[in-house]
Amino acid sequence: MTESTITIDAHIEPGADVDAIKLEIVRALTSTPKALTPKWLYDDRGSQLFDEITRLDEYYPTEAERSILDAHAADIAELTQADTVVELGSGTSDKTRTLLDAFWARGRLRRFVPFDVSEATLVDAASMLAERYVGLDVHAVVGDFNQHLPKLPTQGRRLIAFLGSTIGNFHVEERRAFLGALADTLETGEWLLLGADLVKDVDRIVTAYNDDAGITEAFTLNVLEVLNREFGGNLPVDNFDFVPLWDPTEERMDIRLRADTPFVARFEDLDLDVTFGEGEELRVEVSTKFRPDRLTADLADAGFEVVEFWTADGPTVSDPADFGLILARRVSDRSKSAAARR
Ligand code: AVJ
Repeated sequence: MTESTITIDAHIEPGADVDAIKLEIVRALTSTPKALTPKWLYDDRGSQLFDEITRLDEYYPTEAERSILDAHAADIAELTQADTVVELGSGTSDKTRTLLDAFWARGRLRRFVPFDVSEATLVDAASMLAERYVGLDVHAVVGDFNQHLPKLPTQGRRLIAFLGSTIGNFHVEERRAFLGALADTLETGEWLLLGADLVKDVDRIVTAYNDDAGITEAFTLNVLEVLNREFGGNLPVDNFDFVPLWDPTEERMDIRLRADTPFVARFEDLDLDVTFGEGEELRVEVSTKFRPDRLTADLADAGFEVVEFWTADGPTVSDPADFGLILARRVSDRSKSAAARR
């Protein structure tokens, strides 16, 4: 029997880019409105709280996506004939195993490329997977998918999986750039598997981000602890309210923290005083919900042809679908209408 191999490429070095990171945070805290990128939510505690969110009754996306993957993983393996599966933001998810089990069963899977910002997470996942699939090459990549897609290994016939509706975190322009970068990374005929949460009854969406147990609130407030710890700050966490808003124009959740009373916080490591006025908000993340036609058009603009658009049913027959899992193929030309739309 051939042994598995494990390779780890690190494109993020601890302690590197410190100045760029500080500048990013200074900008985030001094711009109007104040706004962070969601990656700051995921320190160890934040990752743990997010894991709890995925098990909440109110948070439907995780189960919805899992049900589609369970139903169609074998189809995905069959249709794509991929021998290399890349997973962006792979974490430790057991969805990965559903997908890999189906590919492994066909006997053609050679390589798995988990891509994540956390090296520790990747090291754990890599050894677990190498044991489960004896003979599989696990080629882990430590990177930020906003920067390091060009560093992905190019061997084999690839399927890139980007699950969990993480794509909803992007703003419109960022999403366009990201899909374009994904297309640039892939050869014609290679594949994208994309999980996307869909537009539906607003109450069902808002409830998913405003759970009774307050886990989403704790997850969001934790970002203040992260900033205080990382940058020597003294933001008064108790002085903030959790504000999960639905933006009907952009069709996305827009999650904010609002300062009850005005204050000035000091960040020693940034040599920065940050003023919050009464009721001033810090925007923490957006979570966009998609319409199938628009998403299909956006994918076409980027250079992808949608081959399958599977959905999970909503709670009752009259409700729209809850969640979409899209299998798309890189085609040689970007959509003709893309130029017109731009
Ligand atoms: C990980 C970005 C997909 O937008 O639903 C969940 C993050 N934030 N609850 C989402 C999140 C609050 C989640 N994504």
